[in-house]
Amino acid sequence: MKLSLVAVLALVPAALAQEKGSITAPTPGQHIAPGQNFTFKYFGRADYGVSSYDYSVWLVNSTVFDKKLSFEDVFTNGWFFGRYDYANYPAVPYSTHPAPKQLSMPNFTKPQGGFGAGQTASKVNFTLLVIEEYADGGGSVGRKLGTAGVPIVYN
Ligand SMILES: *[C@@H]1O[C@H](CO)[C@@H](O)[C@H](O)[C@H]1NC(C)=O
Ligand SMILES: *[C@@H]1O[C@H](CO)[C@@H](O)[C@H](O)[C@H]1NC(C)=O
Ligand SMILES: *[C@@H]1O[C@H](CO)[C@@H](O)[C@H](O)[C@H]1NC(C)=O
Ligand SMILES: *[C@@H]1O[C@H](CO)[C@@H](O)[C@H](O)[C@H]1NC(C)=O
Repeated sequence: MKLSLVAVLALVPAALAQEKGSITAPTPGQHIAPGQNFTFKYFGRADYGVSSYDYSVWLVNSTVFDKKLSFEDVFTNGWFFGRYDYANYPAVPYSTHPAPKQLSMPNFTKPQGGFGAGQTASKVNFTLLVIEEYADGGGSVGRKLGTAGVPIVYN
């Protein structure tokens, strides 16, 4: 198939452009087994005029996005992987706690310690969620909390 130059030029940015504030790995729908190490990549929002301070990585039950926020019961269930940063001058000249190249999926069947029991699950929808703390010259009451998420399937 022949593509016009205009069509080719239109395709190039789409292939190269990474959207700021997006998770590029894992990929949507990726299956991740308990105990499996999986590649994690986050492309942050920092830019000229935008400073990023930290971002935290969570695994949350995807149903949390279907319901209204309520503080009466369990908010959702999931896992906290960690809080990381990346170099972005001048706020963070050097990263002091970069994300590892791979995150390790816990085995949720295992007891959680103390009274906490585990639970076996397979082929369940979860969302790998990043909450990035950033700010810009526009000002904000506290940091701006920007989100990015990718649906994955646990086990
Ligand atoms: C996952 O990574 C951790 C830490 O790097 C390592 O200790 C572990 O052996 C790895 N597990 C697998 C299944 O590769
Ligand atoms: C996800 O949350 C829903 C309630 O919103 C719950 O019924 C379901 O069991 C949860 N899934 C897992 C795998 O924990
Ligand atoms: C997860 O933990 C359970 C309970 O300890 C164990 O039976 C199972 O083999 C573990 N799964 C993996 C993939 O390690
Ligand atoms: C998980 O997500 C897939 C794709 O969106 C959907 O087809 C499936 O019904 C979902 N499973 C559950 C248990 O909600």
